[in-house]
Formats: sequence, structure tokens, C-alpha cells
Amino acid sequence: MRILSGIKPTGELTLGNYLGALKNFKAFEKQGECFIFIADLHALTLPIEPKVLKENSKSLAAFYLASGLDPKKTTLFLQSDVSAHSELNAILQNYLYMGELSRMTQFKDKAKSMKDSAIGLGLFAYPVLMSADILLYDADVVPVGEDQVQHIELTRDLVNRFNKRYGKVLVMPKANINKVSKRIMSLSDPTKKMSKSDPKGDIYLKDNPDVIRKKIMSAVTDSGNEIKYDEVNKPGISNLLVIYAAIKGIDIPASEKHFQGYRYGDFKKEIADTVINELKPFMERYQEIMKSDLVNQVLLDGAKRANKIANITLKRVKRAVGLFDEK
Ligand code: AMP
Ligand code: TRP
Repeated sequence: MRILSGIKPTGELTLGNYLGALKNFKAFEKQGECFIFIADLHALTLPIEPKVLKENSKSLAAFYLASGLDPKKTTLFLQSDVSAHSELNAILQNYLYMGELSRMTQFKDKAKSMKDSAIGLGLFAYPVLMSADILLYDADVVPVGEDQVQHIELTRDLVNRFNKRYGKVLVMPKANINKVSKRIMSLSDPTKKMSKSDPKGDIYLKDNPDVIRKKIMSAVTDSGNEIKYDEVNKPGISNLLVIYAAIKGIDIPASEKHFQGYRYGDFKKEIADTVINELKPFMERYQEIMKSDLVNQVLLDGAKRANKIANITLKRVKRAVGLFDEK
């Protein structure tokens, strides 16, 4: 089995990224061959300073390593180090259509506050490059948070469309979502997803313990006093129950049961302790890795391995569509 996933190096990683994506990758190392990458080309779809992009990319590689991924087993690489992503993107863009791309929720969300004249083609065509990322490695499984499922469904439509025309060329991928942590919500507005751009509602992995505690203690809840999972009427409490369950590796009913009879204040205090205890050793490993030369070595080696596999698929696709290939 092949497993592939990526994260954009666009900002500070949040607890949502950690629980919805990063923390889940390690478990896949035992199940198959893993390819985990830094989606730096995707990071260019919205304005970003070159220096920031570069720093974020290194930092994300260190986060991958701190999460326990073994670079001997998992191929860790930078998307832009493998030119086949851009080449396959150029081919696949002819098999995805304007109508379906304009229906993507992520695109609509990002574009709604922008003038048409400022929306880059790359933002619109984001799922084309994402399809290339997935299909180049013949990935069977793509672990992601819920917000990415629509993109993977589009990739699946593309595979059907392409294979119907050219034969069995592309491998059909499937999204894998962690049922508990698929959607971590903002602490300041628990009806909204925790994303990288809301300092009050986000917990950043780099936040120090005092900041984390403060944010959790002031998380929006409700005026009741019952600790119960109810997404509609108690979204704030539900989100904290989810965070606890995701960290402890238990289901939501078990999390609810654990906090039965707690008062909101004590409940929040224990959630804060749990998050801080989870992130502390992780961040210590991260700091150590950032001080070393490991990231550069790992990415260099990862690029070699990724290029090898990606080029095989690219060749297969080029032949299938009739691009001249003398080798
Ligand atoms: P991104 O930061 O958009 O590149 O997201 C990287 C990964 O984190 C993707 O698999 C997302 O689905 C996941 N993710 C981002 N935010 C959240 C969230 N609030 N809850 C769960 N997963 C998330
Ligand atoms: N689109 C993903 C996100 O924003 C990042 C990503 C890019 C990705 N290419 C991918 C995830 C391929 C999984 C597979 O979260």
C-alpha cells in the first residue's frame, strides 16, 4: 500500500494541523510505503514572502521529523524538488474543468474576500496540482482532515475520466480521515474551523505553555454547566471534548464519560494540561532537530527517492496521452 500526504508551509502550524493530519501519519509507516511532503508550490497560491516560505518549509520538515516519522522508512520531501509535480500538473489540467473547480469550497472560501483581478490561476487550479501530487506516487490512501476530502473526491473523478479514455494508467486514491479529529474548531468561534489565520482562536504548536493555557481557559463555551457532546447546541464544549479524545486516542463518548460531573473551569484546566503535556516533548524534539543539520540531509535524500518514483509515473502518463518519449 502507498500512503501520501502533504501540508502547506503557509503559516504557523495549528493544533488542527497536528491532530487532523500530522499526528496520524506515523501510524501509517507500519501499513505501507509513506510519502509525506511539504506543499511549497501550493503555498504560492496566496501571497507569501520568500523568506517566510523558506523558513516555514524547513520548520515543517522538522515538525514531520518531531512527529516521529522515520526518514528511512518514509520519504520526506519538498514538492518543488520533484519537477514531475509541475509536469503532471500541466497534463492533468486538461482533464479537470472550470465548472467543477469553481465549486470547490476551499476556493470559494479563499476567493470570497478577494477581487477577481487578485485571484491567481494557481489558487483556482489548486486541486489540479494536488491531484498530480497524489497520482504521481500511485497513492492508495491519503490521510487528511475533512476539509481536503472534496479535493480528493475530485481527484477520484479525474482518475475515472482519465482511465476511461486511456486505460488503467492512474491508481484510484482514497481519503483517510481520522473520525475523531477530522475537524478541530476555533477556540474563539467554535462554529468555524481552526485555520492558520486567527491568533485568538488558534493554538499554534509554537505557542508557549502559558499562552496555550490562556487560550484554552478563555475558549468560548456556553452558559450551561453540562459537559456533553452536542455540536449544534454546545460547539465549544464539543470541540474541547474532541481535542481531549484525539490526544488520548479515545473516542468521544469515552472523553465525555471522563469529564462527567466536572465544572467548566476544571474541565478547561485539564484540557489545557493535556494539550501542554502532549506538545511539550514534541516541541522539544522539534527544537533539537531545528538546531541540527538533519532537515537538509533528509530532504536531499527524500528528493532523490521521490524523483525516482514520480518519474516512472510521469513517463507512463506521457506515453498514455501520446507525448513523444524517445527513451
Ligand atoms: P493545510 O494547513 O491547509 O496545508 O492543512 C494541512 C492538513 O491539516 C490537511 O490534511 C488539513 O485537512 C488538516 N487540517 C487543517 N486544519 C484542520 C482542522 N482545523 N482540523 C482538522 N484538520 C485540519
Ligand atoms: N491541500 C492540502 C491542504 O491544504 C495540502 C496538500 C497538497 C495535500 N497536496 C496534497 C494533501 C496531496 C494531501 C495530498 O491541506
